[in-house]
Amino acid sequence: MTSPVRVALLGCGTVGSDVVRLLHEQSADLAARIGAPLEIAGIAVRRVGRDRGDLPVDPALFTTDPLGLIKRDDVDIVVEVVGGIEPARGWLVEALRAGKSVVTANKALLAEDGATLHDAAAEGGADLYYEASVAGAIPLLRPLRESLHGDRINRVTGIVNGTTNFILSAMDATGAGFAEALEEATELGYAEADPTADVEGFDAAAKAAILASLAFHTRVTAADVHREGITEVTAADVASAKAMGCTIKLLCIAARNTDPAGRESVSVRVHPAMIPLTHPLASVGDAFNAVFVEAEAAGQLMFYGRGAGGAPTASAVLGDVVAVARNRLAGVHAASESAYADLAVRPMGEALTRYHISLDVADRPGVLEAVAGVFARHEVSIATVRQGPAGGGPAGRGEDAELVIVTHVAPDAALAATVRALRGLEIVRSVTSVLRVEGGA
Ligand code: NDP
Ligand code: HSE
Repeated sequence: MTSPVRVALLGCGTVGSDVVRLLHEQSADLAARIGAPLEIAGIAVRRVGRDRGDLPVDPALFTTDPLGLIKRDDVDIVVEVVGGIEPARGWLVEALRAGKSVVTANKALLAEDGATLHDAAAEGGADLYYEASVAGAIPLLRPLRESLHGDRINRVTGIVNGTTNFILSAMDATGAGFAEALEEATELGYAEADPTADVEGFDAAAKAAILASLAFHTRVTAADVHREGITEVTAADVASAKAMGCTIKLLCIAARNTDPAGRESVSVRVHPAMIPLTHPLASVGDAFNAVFVEAEAAGQLMFYGRGAGGAPTASAVLGDVVAVARNRLAGVHAASESAYADLAVRPMGEALTRYHISLDVADRPGVLEAVAGVFARHEVSIATVRQGPAGGGPAGRGEDAELVIVTHVAPDAALAATVRALRGLEIVRSVTSVLRVEGGA
């Protein structure tokens, strides 16, 4: 057999330790698939002395000098599972410029500055693979960047954060509030001690940027993504969704838009939204991820699976390692970044969305007309209106009433302005719930 392909592993935490384990357990199969054995040249960590249980690896391989490891002549491929922007960016640029292919799970870095990595890969003639960075084990980026390259993708809608999906699913199942569901997620190990990146939507926004870049052949960064988390979603919102035959999910939505003059742009956003129970994403429960792709010729495609965890993520990392190792032995490289379309990214205010709005209003003549007038002045068309007793109490003149209004599609800025104006009406006691609606509810 040919001489080994030597891997520098940067990071040996949740994902890295499972990469080591799988490399060990499947070494014969991996060697057969690649045509050469894979060997770990070294493992860079922060604490060499950390107890790593029964990890099947020679302790002498550990180092606290990632850059020194990357620069070694006997390193062919660099696998980065440390995370964060710096120093990871510096390490990967060094590796790629030196012609060493990189496999990374680092969504934060790819979404912040993927361009620098792609440029370094092109400069060094190296491969940059990052399947694990979005939706963990789910084969998704390879289909977007290879299988669907003969097609035209119009929209990608996904549940790409397992922690928030667990929380929202728990709220839906039990009627719990956000804080209670987060506590359960933390106890069960789904949410991290600091859950900010997940619950505020930063993690999903990074993944949305990566998906949009691949789907639309356009460089999209995390800063281009409109981001709202789930901390404001209440038990009342969830109940309101249920009453409409819907559920609430944190969605990442990347859409191609064409204006009346035929000019194309993209909008990329992450926010909670109501979707009908009949939507394919509605049944994605627990901490699972799923991504729904709509393409011109292929039609609708659904990708589903585990979006996090050591072994599922390591599976995606190793798939990439096999691909880049094979390329190396064949003396070829994968196609470089495809960003030729260079579409403009629209601000959120211009994205076309629909709102579900619940209001407590005074129940007296002319109220419906006043409320409808606000929508009309903002050029927002109402799709449905339902009136019932406020807070479940008896309806009648002199009592408050609840109005539930669902709009047709309108620019998000017009919808937001409508809600602001409603809050200012004397007859509106309170706006109890505002949620975007996706998927034809
Ligand atoms: P962990 O925090 O579990 O592990 C990080 C590893 O990096 C540790 O081994 C740590 O060393 C090492 N490390 C940290 N700082 C340095 C440094 N300055 N120099 C050298 N080594 C360092 O992270 P995860 O395994 O959870 O995540 C790794 C990457 O994978 C991240 O980019 C993450 O976003 C991504 N990812 C993670 C998923 C998951 O389910 N966990 C899912 C999908 C992607 P030490 O062991 O000594 O502490
Ligand atoms: N924190 C992420 C999630 C996992 O909850 O899905 C890593 O992408």
